[in-house]
Amino acid sequence: MKRIPIVAGNWKMYKTVDEAKEFAHKVSGLHADKSQVDTVICAPFIALPALVDELKNVPVGIGAQNMHWEESGAYTGEVSPVMLESLGVQYVIIGHSERRQYFAETDETVNKKVKAAFAHNLAPIVCVGEDLTQREAGQTKDFVRKQVLAAVEGLTSVQAAKLIIAYEPIWAIGTGKSSSAQDAQDVISFIRTAVAGAFDQQVADQVRIQYGGSVKPENIASYMSETDIDGALVGGASLAPESFLKLVEAVVGGKTS
Ligand code: PGA
Repeated sequence: MKRIPIVAGNWKMYKTVDEAKEFAHKVSGLHADKSQVDTVICAPFIALPALVDELKNVPVGIGAQNMHWEESGAYTGEVSPVMLESLGVQYVIIGHSERRQYFAETDETVNKKVKAAFAHNLAPIVCVGEDLTQREAGQTKDFVRKQVLAAVEGLTSVQAAKLIIAYEPIWAIGTGKSSSAQDAQDVISFIRTAVAGAFDQQVADQVRIQYGGSVKPENIASYMSETDIDGALVGGASLAPESFLKLVEAVVGGKTS
């Protein structure tokens, strides 16, 4: 089963709309072959309309970094899946560890958001990953399995097969201390087995599972050489257009522009 790798940039709370447009201009020459790689930029909400517009003829998908699960309602400050869908956004990060840690996201809200994403044609990038204490206590796999099973609860097999999971050990995010490719492969193949247990092997073979946490142009190839790692979710190294293009190049093993 050939899975198309997916390189997604997570800009977090960086870039004004003008800076986002500048980035878009600089990657507008990207010629990534969609049969070889999917590329995505997940930007702050207010930059999404400009990015959708500026990159409409460029093979870069646009994603949000969060959303509410309801279609509309009295939820001051929130953005709904309907709003994202109507804008032409195709992806949404769900349950990033920073949202779980600072904004009280739980496995339950993650599951509601995943279902809402599928209901509105948005591809969810569901983030899971252990913290350093859990890692050192040998709890990584138990913890990550629990997060994955909670996220996929109640999905149909058709939906589950379209899922993108990002395994991001919290201790590796923004720290420069990336997981070894071997360790990432070990956890990611375990996640695939957990998905097979919740659905079946056919679904598990289709789910794309990224590694995230201090991925850079210099180390992305080592992750990509592992059989179960289907790309990367990249924070810091996705902000500069040159770096983003290099990440994509490293995945397709050639020139992108
Ligand atoms: P990083 O962030 O690449 O800056 O470590 C990854 C993420 O938070 O998705």
